[in-house]
Amino acid sequence: MSDQFNSKELLIDGINKLQLSKIPTPELDARIMLSNAINYQGIIYIHNNILISKKEKNKFYDFLDKRIQGKPVSRIIGSRNFWKNNFLINKYTLDPRPDSEVIIEAVNKIYSNNAKSIQVLDLGSGSGCIGLSIIDDLNNASLLSVDVCKQALEQVERNAKRLNLSKKIRCVQINWLKKTWIQNIKLTTNKERLFSKNKFDIIVCNPPYIKSSEIEKLQTEVKNYDPLVSLDGGMDGCDSYRAIFKDLRQLLSKDGLCFFEIGFDLLAEIKIILKEFNLNLIRVHKDFHGHNRVIEIN
Ligand SMILES: C[S@@+](CC[C@H](N)C(=O)[O-])C[C@H]1O[C@@H](n2cnc3c(N)ncnc32)[C@H](O)[C@@H]1O
Repeated sequence: MSDQFNSKELLIDGINKLQLSKIPTPELDARIMLSNAINYQGIIYIHNNILISKKEKNKFYDFLDKRIQGKPVSRIIGSRNFWKNNFLINKYTLDPRPDSEVIIEAVNKIYSNNAKSIQVLDLGSGSGCIGLSIIDDLNNASLLSVDVCKQALEQVERNAKRLNLSKKIRCVQINWLKKTWIQNIKLTTNKERLFSKNKFDIIVCNPPYIKSSEIEKLQTEVKNYDPLVSLDGGMDGCDSYRAIFKDLRQLLSKDGLCFFEIGFDLLAEIKIILKEFNLNLIRVHKDFHGHNRVIEIN
């Protein structure tokens, strides 16, 4: 019996299996998983006629089983495309969402022709997808990635290496719910040569913003696979905004701007918090569904 298989046959079989299990996007999922199982550069199409070894076939069928059990494709293959790059994820990092790309678009609109050196702070970096995408697009930018989770920061470092950005970033484990968080950021900027100023020109943040009572109602793929610390924003979803906004000015340079992702139903509450801490709402950026998604503030 031959130990070689044909990609078209495997794909068709995989798509059928996913369809039978009512997976919403069977064709795309099967193509991504087969491409990953055989280390194919790009994504396999049905018309591609590629010979597949038994080992690769077994890997693909293992992926199919996991998908049928409800695991998201990105968690199965361990990475997700975001903006212009592919980012490694792990069980400690949020699966990057297309909605967060609105932050990169908003930043690029303002800074893409900027010639000066820029310091970027990414609060709650997760995989690093937001901060790394920004400094990858801008020339002359350095990045401080902050997260409460050490294993997430390790993933930022791996992603920075893959993008050839390691020399432009530093990571620091900090909890913004602790009183000393600003002081700890300043200690880092003071000791790291990469940062000549201890304030930042751009601050980006996608904090946890789901109301605690809503977590149970989330899709299984989110609830079971995204870390709780990256989702739970407290009783009204605004715990992190309150903690960060209180001291934000101490980190922002004179002409600096901040871009925060928000829950699409949180704008009214967030406006009150901004006012309380004397921050200005400059603009609200919508996501691809037309929802309020990113606030630009200073
Ligand atoms: C919604 S996720 C965003 C991750 C990533 N920026 C993205 O957009 O994919 C929020 C991130 O904030 C981090 N985080 C949550 N609470 C934190 C806290 N109190 N201090 C610092 N980081 C925190 C989580 O570990 C998580 O990585």
